[in-house]
Amino acid sequence: MAISSSSKLLVLHFLFALYLCQSPARADTTAFIHSRAAYYPNSDQQGTSDGACGYKTFGATLNGGDVSAASNLYRNGVGCGACYQVRCTGNSLCSPNGVTIVITDQGASGNTDFILSQHAFSKMGLTADAGASLLSLGVVDIEYRRISCSWPNKNITFKIDEASNFPGYLAFLIEYQQGAKDITAVQICETVNLTCKLLNRSYGTVWTANPPPSGPLLIKMLVSGDEDGDETWLVPINTIPENWKAGDSYDSGVQLN
Ligand SMILES: *[C@@H]1O[C@H](CO)[C@@H](O)[C@H](O)[C@H]1NC(C)=O
Ligand SMILES: *[C@@H]1O[C@H](CO)[C@@H](O)[C@H](O)[C@H]1NC(C)=O
Ligand SMILES: *[C@@H]1O[C@H](CO)[C@@H](O)[C@H](O)[C@H]1NC(C)=O
Repeated sequence: MAISSSSKLLVLHFLFALYLCQSPARADTTAFIHSRAAYYPNSDQQGTSDGACGYKTFGATLNGGDVSAASNLYRNGVGCGACYQVRCTGNSLCSPNGVTIVITDQGASGNTDFILSQHAFSKMGLTADAGASLLSLGVVDIEYRRISCSWPNKNITFKIDEASNFPGYLAFLIEYQQGAKDITAVQICETVNLTCKLLNRSYGTVWTANPPPSGPLLIKMLVSGDEDGDETWLVPINTIPENWKAGDSYDSGVQLN
């Protein structure tokens, strides 16, 4: 009896493990990766307004100034706007949750994966005093994992770059992308004949059309898949109006989770 019921239990455990493996609901269980982090030398408590991603002044205040430059994770600009949980390790000054940062720049300092804003770096401390003590260390051991970005009450927004020149040269940024996926390609479509063309990433998160089509414009975004690898085109509800202006922002009407 005893043997039979314990082997039944084993079968149950096995089936449960199988069920867990096949469960489509994935929690935020990405493993932490060990690395090191430094911080920007300027004592600015903000983010950076001249980061490689091209966010300009938006990058200074984004996420309350909790932003970072990335080295490998920059991925030629694909990594711009991605969110990471970063926490320091091996030090009693470190808070268990660390800080959530957004990538706005490219850079490395020695063998670091992140150069955090000072605001973000000190937030890895348990207290404000602990944060100040961390700053005095300069570089710390960390562990990090990619997490979903959350922008409550924001849709994905197209910001027309100041360098744009109506009607012949359109450069725009993609801002407030939620979730933990990447935008790997962008198409611009004119809405009269519905013809689309692939755009090139100019740098960072800046895409250019030179010249853009005329009329209202639809900007489609190719979104990376999960482990199953299926990429999908995200199609906005709203178009960019035909008389778009440099410096203006246009709400796409769509968002990722
Ligand atoms: C749409 O196609 C027609 C016919 O080819 C062309 O004459 C017109 O200029 C096109 N419109 C736009 C906005 O591209
Ligand atoms: C993208 O870049 C390639 C190579 O530089 C170029 O041939 C192509 O015309 C560009 N596409 C657009 C839409 O500007
Ligand atoms: C996002 O887009 C939806 C659909 O167009 C719209 O109803 C909603 O108001 C937008 N949200 C914000 C915060 O603008």
